[in-house]
Amino acid sequence: MPDISTEYMGLKLKSPVIMASGPLTSSLDSLKKGEDAGAGAVVLKSIFEEQIEKDAGRDTQSSGDYLQSSDHMEYFEAMAKDYYVDRYMSLLEKAKESLDIPVIASINCKSISTWLDYADRFRSCKADAIELNYFPIASNAEISGDKVDKALFDFVKSARSRIGGRLSIKIGSFYSSLSNVIRRIDEAGLEGIVLFNRPFRPDIDLERLEIKSSSPLSSPNEYGMSLRWTALMSGEIKADIAANTGIHDKNALIKMLLAGAKAVEICSAIMEKGYGVITEMNSGLSSFMEEKGYGRLKDFIGLLAEENYERGDAWERVQFLRTIGPVTE
Ligand SMILES: Cc1cc2nc3c(=O)[nH]c(=O)nc-3n(C[C@H](O)[C@H](O)[C@H](O)COP(=O)(O)O)c2cc1C
Repeated sequence: MPDISTEYMGLKLKSPVIMASGPLTSSLDSLKKGEDAGAGAVVLKSIFEEQIEKDAGRDTQSSGDYLQSSDHMEYFEAMAKDYYVDRYMSLLEKAKESLDIPVIASINCKSISTWLDYADRFRSCKADAIELNYFPIASNAEISGDKVDKALFDFVKSARSRIGGRLSIKIGSFYSSLSNVIRRIDEAGLEGIVLFNRPFRPDIDLERLEIKSSSPLSSPNEYGMSLRWTALMSGEIKADIAANTGIHDKNALIKMLLAGAKAVEICSAIMEKGYGVITEMNSGLSSFMEEKGYGRLKDFIGLLAEENYERGDAWERVQFLRTIGPVTE
């Protein structure tokens, strides 16, 4: 029986399939189901500073009649914020008590001091790692790409210098030089990089003439971006890559490993097909290894990464040179 265990950020995972942060990682029950189905680790749903501010503000407003002075209101709002953070910590603590697999906490904040405050609190609850969910949208045309990048690097450096323990960042793919961005994150000394988050995508409802959300779930043909950048960067950086977005089956999992990912994070596939997809991916990986004669993941992780593969420059190709003729997969 091939050994499908892997090492990601120094954590020993019994499978390279990680439950990505999302609705299914916000309750103990679903985390447990993921573990039972064979997940190697779980990333809890992100704690969002923006959401906490909104919820605490709403709670304070609705108690406005009883809170007579602005001092009372500030105090109440601070308590309400703590309540929401405590709820997250309670899920983290319970997950750590009940699960045997690593539990990664995920944070999305606006101000660096809150990122660090939450990270400290989660580390005190023995989170196995912290994943920073960082996804600004560069919509202000006054701000150059350099500044957008600098904000990311400054953030990563202060997070690294002040957050002990294993640290990863999940980024989006909208940077002018992804290779430079990934390398500089690596130079800051993070243990893991998740490529890539899939953002909320606004759409238009033509009937109501309103903005609506397009499907929050990825489709199985969306893995290409992550595959290319995993293959391009995995041989160049020390940090481990977890591939993310569009990984729905064993084939996509195996491709990511061949490109050099140490693990994959999946969300949509579980939401669409149920927890059984984790079991299927694990057994599909195992069968593939048996068929090809690989005993351990180490035997083939990164085999087709740019650095290791004779024709690795194919990962850099962007033009379709032939318009007629055979296209091989
Ligand atoms: C409904 C929904 C909620 C999500 N919430 C979070 C979140 O709180 N934090 C986060 O980092 N990613 C979140 N994600 C993104 C997923 O973790 C993942 O990065 C993305 O869905 C791409 O992976 P997939 O193709 O396997 O779905 C969410 C995704 C969905 C569909």
